[in-house]
Amino acid sequence: MSELIRLSLSIEKALFDKFEKLVEKHKYVNRSEFIRDMIRDLLVSEEWQGQHEVLGTITLIYEHHKRELSEKLTDLQHHHHNIVLASTHLHLTEKICAEMIMLKGRADAVNELTDKLRQQRGVLHASLTMSSTGINLD
Ligand code: NI
Repeated sequence: MSELIRLSLSIEKALFDKFEKLVEKHKYVNRSEFIRDMIRDLLVSEEWQGQHEVLGTITLIYEHHKRELSEKLTDLQHHHHNIVLASTHLHLTEKICAEMIMLKGRADAVNELTDKLRQQRGVLHASLTMSSTGINLD
C-alpha cells in the first residue's frame, strides 16, 4: 500500500454543499473514498481518450429474425478476435436477443468494433461500458 498524503483544500461553499450531497447520495461513508473514486474515474476516462489498453463490455440488443444479423455480428467478432475475450448470448424474448461482449485492447480498437456492431441493421441498441485493466489505478 502506498503512503497516505493528507491534504486540505479551499472550495466555494455552494460547491462544497453539492459535493456533500453527492457523497451522501452515493452512500459513501467518507469523503476520501469518494474523492479517490472520482480521481480513478477521471484516470479511466483518460485511458479511453488515447491508445491505452482498456477493458470494456458491449451490450447489444438485437432482432433475432433479422436476416443474417447473427452471422454478421459473429463475423465481426472473429475479425477482431485479438480484442474479444468472451461473449454471452441471451434469448430475451421470442424476437429479441441480447449479447454481452467482453473486450480488452486498445481504446480506439474497442470503440471501432462497438461502432461497427452498433451500425448493423437490426441492432436496436448498443452500449459500451468503459472500464480499465486497473494497472494504473492504485
Ligand atoms: Ni437469441
